[in-house]
Amino acid sequence: MDICRTPSELRSHLKWLRKQGLSVAFVPTMGYLHAGHMSLIDRAASEAKRVIVSIFVNPTQFGDPQDLESYPRDVAHDLEMLEAANVEAVFLPSVEDIYPEGAETIVETMRLANVLHGEVREGHFRGVATVVAKLFNLVQPDVACFGEKDYQQLQVIRQMVRDLHFPIRIVGCPTVREPDGLALSSRNVRLTPEDRQAALVLSRSLDRAEELATAGATVEEIASTVTDMIVAEPRAALRAVDVTEALTLSPASGKPSGPLALMLSAEFGGILLIDQREVSP
Ligand code: PAF
Repeated sequence: MDICRTPSELRSHLKWLRKQGLSVAFVPTMGYLHAGHMSLIDRAASEAKRVIVSIFVNPTQFGDPQDLESYPRDVAHDLEMLEAANVEAVFLPSVEDIYPEGAETIVETMRLANVLHGEVREGHFRGVATVVAKLFNLVQPDVACFGEKDYQQLQVIRQMVRDLHFPIRIVGCPTVREPDGLALSSRNVRLTPEDRQAALVLSRSLDRAEELATAGATVEEIASTVTDMIVAEPRAALRAVDVTEALTLSPASGKPSGPLALMLSAEFGGILLIDQREVSP
């Protein structure tokens, strides 16, 4: 496995791959890899001949410097996992490589970035779109894989790829969960055992929402049931319950006529967790 620490190292590796006519699938990450990331890598391996992974904790998508500072990191362990997964190359750029002095270009999906979670995490999706656009330009993959857990992020990236004519196919991959239902996240290691137990309310309320949607409930009934369930958990500080049309993330109301996206976020002991599910009535 090649470790490319600079854009020029990455470029020469890519040149060599392309010369052999090998297709490339890309999985961008912020490291501290877990089974959720590995499922993206498995999917990537089935989509192209070679897989490239980036590890970059992107400062522009963190609102709170403390959150950036405390984001878990273990590059040595990540590299072991990537080597075992037969990844072709890992791109490990520095902040200066991605945001060189004087950089002033940003990428923003104007509507999608500023609704729902984007309203409460000001600038977050602008940071995501900007870094993913830069990584796409550097890696130039044929296909890129993203988790459906970050549902709004996935839609932001799909929109950006369409709007900016990136010749890249975006594959959304299902959320990977612990046996008890907790969605895998690098943030989970920061939860106390009590908060981890309390966080199960997220997947439980998604299960309930799915039951309600299948039974023909309205969007308002689904949203209020989920809100009540999370508010009833004393260790949870609810941040958002969003029930929207899937794909466009436009507001939904009444009896849904098509698939809905349910997106939840809540803090447990100050750790922000998100979870989502797409449900069809
Ligand atoms: O989902 C993530 O880990 C990040 O938001 C991403 C896509 C790697 C961009 O920094």
